[in-house]
Amino acid sequence: MYSLYFPGQLPVQDNKLLKKDLFGEVWRVADDDGLAVLRDTRPARWWLAWLARNLLRRESRALAALTGIEGIPQLRSSDRHTLLRSYMPGVPLFEGRPQEALYFKAAARLLRQVHRAGVVHNDLAKEPNILLRDDGSPAFIDFQLAWYSRRRNRLFRSAAREDIRHLLKHKRTYRADLLTMRERAILKSPSPLSRAWMSLFKPVYLFLTRRILGWSDREGAADRGRSD
Ligand SMILES: Nc1ncnc2c1ncn2[C@@H]1O[C@H](COP(=O)(O)OP(=O)(O)O)[C@@H](O)[C@H]1O
Ligand SMILES: [Mg+2]
Repeated sequence: MYSLYFPGQLPVQDNKLLKKDLFGEVWRVADDDGLAVLRDTRPARWWLAWLARNLLRRESRALAALTGIEGIPQLRSSDRHTLLRSYMPGVPLFEGRPQEALYFKAAARLLRQVHRAGVVHNDLAKEPNILLRDDGSPAFIDFQLAWYSRRRNRLFRSAAREDIRHLLKHKRTYRADLLTMRERAILKSPSPLSRAWMSLFKPVYLFLTRRILGWSDREGAADRGRSD
């Protein structure tokens, strides 16, 4: 079905390239149900195509599990190479710089809903993956690194806790005064998973993404990542 949504076949004025990297392209497109976001892995470099398709499948599985949750893009369709999800008008966190206590409350609630549905996001350290929507509410996008699991084993719970920590880091950035004692304690205690990541994998990850993939200025936003 993807030919229906191939950007080149839609009226040019309706389509906007949101992002392009070695994994492919992300387009905002218009379809019968309104604006949508198309992830297209066909332009990916050939040596990364298998990985791009794998990430797309991951996202598709996660979004399907999150159907109906307000603040999560709704999956419209997906196939081997493309994925279409609803567009949510808003700006990324680093641009919106939310100040409202309600925003952070709603974001925490949204994350609980995601976890309850059996999904961990795994990429909430990146500010572009969290939106301040035009109506003031939060949204999470970009589920390429997400895990979907029906059984919530230890690994799942540990990753869920990391999601929570990453969200709290953003709260600390914009409204540190709103952090509760409990939230401060969570911020101070990275999970063993996170510690292992930082000491073992992060150097390799940085080498790959910065030197090989050239992501150092990825999307122009600070990655408050996993540095503390
Ligand atoms: N559903 C959406 N609603 C609004 N904007 C979106 C949506 N999905 C993606 N975007 C925009 O497109 C950018 C890239 O999409 P994303 O899914 O994060 O791809 P990538 O995995 O390559 O970072 C996002 O940072 C955001 O600005
Ligand atoms: Mg992203």
